[in-house]
Amino acid sequence: MTKLIDNFNRHINYLRISVTDRCNLRCVYCMPKEGLSLIGHEDILRYEEILKITKIAAKKGISKIRITGGEPLVRKNIISLISDINRIDEIEDISITTNGVFLKKYASKLKKAGLKRINISLDSLEKNKYSEITRGGCLDDVLTGITEAKLNGFNPIKINFVPLKGINDNEIATIAKLTMERPIHIRFIEFMPVNVQNEWNNDHYIPSKKIKNELEKIAPLLPVERKEHTGPARMFQFLNAKGQIGFISPLSNHFCDSCNRLRLTADGKLRTCLFSDKETDLKTPLRNGCNEKELEEIITTAILNKPEKHKVLDPSFEKCHRGMSSIGG
Ligand code: 5AD
Ligand code: SF4
Repeated sequence: MTKLIDNFNRHINYLRISVTDRCNLRCVYCMPKEGLSLIGHEDILRYEEILKITKIAAKKGISKIRITGGEPLVRKNIISLISDINRIDEIEDISITTNGVFLKKYASKLKKAGLKRINISLDSLEKNKYSEITRGGCLDDVLTGITEAKLNGFNPIKINFVPLKGINDNEIATIAKLTMERPIHIRFIEFMPVNVQNEWNNDHYIPSKKIKNELEKIAPLLPVERKEHTGPARMFQFLNAKGQIGFISPLSNHFCDSCNRLRLTADGKLRTCLFSDKETDLKTPLRNGCNEKELEEIITTAILNKPEKHKVLDPSFEKCHRGMSSIGG
């Protein structure tokens, strides 16, 4: 298999594809209450365009794909895209990040389409608070979705929890303890300063270290050996627990030196760092009829310019121009 090595000796093998910037929810840390500017329909990559880019990326050495959004399950015919990507020879692993609301309907179809793994965003186990954080979401829908995913053999289920000071930090211990009896992975993701176009700010940020300290008061946390799909999370486990606990700390403990990923935005821009607005437009050349070789060259140049590390902690850093819902997390 082709190996794609960038200028900083990182093996790039993972592409995250945002298929839409739309979402059925409006999480406070991701979207503004109102007035979010959306990508025009004609600017959203069509499935055949996504496939074309994915095939070239796969030839160059991408073997892992994650489908993200916005909420990927709101896009029409998403199952057919997943099964087409899954049929690309070089693709060994295809996964999705979803808010879980539509999993009741889609879990079995996703399994049949060849999806391997599911990450679900869930930031509260209290009905009212869940609805507050997601601005109207229904907790039971997600819980039913998680059950359905399990019934369809997705294992382990990974839950993404963004701890927010003064909002859901009282639930950190409760959600972590779920891993004692169940084979789920809870991943605490540090709140990230992407553009939310609203009052949302860093006052809610809680560093991973603080959470880890809190959890260690419950029981010792034992480090778990890294597995292939661990990604940037540092994984731990309570003694004899069925599930695991992860910390994703892009700010307090950045993992740029092992970053293996690229992102394709819903409007066809290749983004080589989550926090850098330097993007490479693939849609325009694609629609102007460039051939495969040319597209391959554009992608290669973008990868060679992948920044060494993010600049979020530099005093000069400004919030990213895009919100998470259009970058794809
Ligand atoms: N900070 C941290 N995590 C975020 N997500 C969305 N916006 C942010 C943010 N500003 C998370 C969601 C989801 C994943 C795709 O990204 O919770 O789990
Ligand atoms: Fe939707 Fe995910 Fe953003 Fe929440 S975090 S609004 S579920 S895209």
